[in-house]
Amino acid sequence: MRIVPKAAAMQKLARHWKRAGVKIGLVPTMGYLHAGHLSLVREARQRVGKTGKVVVSIYVNPTQFAPTEDLANYPRDLERDLKMCHAEGADVVFMPGDAEMYPGKAEGKYSTYVVEENLGRGMEGAARPVHFRGVTTVVAKLFNLVLPDVSVFGQKDFQQAAIIRRMVGDLNFPVQIIVAPTRREADGLAMSSRNKYLDAEQRAQAVILFHALQAAKKAAAKKTVRAARLKKDLQEFITAAPLARLDYVEFFDPETLQPVAQVKRGTHMALAVFFSKTRLIDNAQI
Ligand code: PAJ
Repeated sequence: MRIVPKAAAMQKLARHWKRAGVKIGLVPTMGYLHAGHLSLVREARQRVGKTGKVVVSIYVNPTQFAPTEDLANYPRDLERDLKMCHAEGADVVFMPGDAEMYPGKAEGKYSTYVVEENLGRGMEGAARPVHFRGVTTVVAKLFNLVLPDVSVFGQKDFQQAAIIRRMVGDLNFPVQIIVAPTRREADGLAMSSRNKYLDAEQRAQAVILFHALQAAKKAAAKKTVRAARLKKDLQEFITAAPLARLDYVEFFDPETLQPVAQVKRGTHMALAVFFSKTRLIDNAQI
């Protein structure tokens, strides 16, 4: 497994592979890897085959964090991440620093961003105004540096995956986007690097996100339910976890991400819940 810290070296390697007709799969991450990330690496390997190359990028992207968010103490364990990538059979770990990804930014000489203007407005975009601009920008940059034929994202970040798909279509990136299912802990909590922030009591209550998704599924299993009604019921439901504070729960069309008034089979649900300063998200199709 090769570790590549420089953007120019990554692009050179990718161009070399391209000329040789080698398929490239990319899994973008911010590190502190868990089994969810690794399932994406496995998916990428399946897509490019034995003769293809799988690149995992590890980069905690500053432009997708607001000043008030957890950039500085975002969990990191590079040594462990590298071991996990190696064990999973990744060919390259691309781990650039800020000066590589945003050259000149400290001196005010970086000024180009990629902005998706529709799907990113609600939910995570409303709660975290600069977030998706940072995500689309860094992912576009990663595509230009790694030149992937296929790139794998997690359903865990449903809105993010939809926005990346839209960006790729709108801007004609020659890359296939794959969205892989959410990996969960034994009790149902979606795996996330941020779960590390939870203390024992919060961790025990964090399963409320998963239970809320299940409760909504059950409520809308046999009949159409008003979204406003269900939102109210879920707000109430979540008070069963006294350490949880609901940020939002939304019911929406999975294609347009537009909120719907009536919840039925096929409607998508997403929610964000705070445990103290830790913000967890989850989503599922009803
Ligand atoms: P990060 O949160 O590290 O997630 C990297 C990828 O892993 C994303 O595609 C995410 O959806 C996926 N993922 C996270 N938890 C998962 C789980 N439990 N099961 C399956 N997949 C999961 O998302 C980002 O980083 C960043 O925004 C990034 C796309 C790398 C841009 O900086």
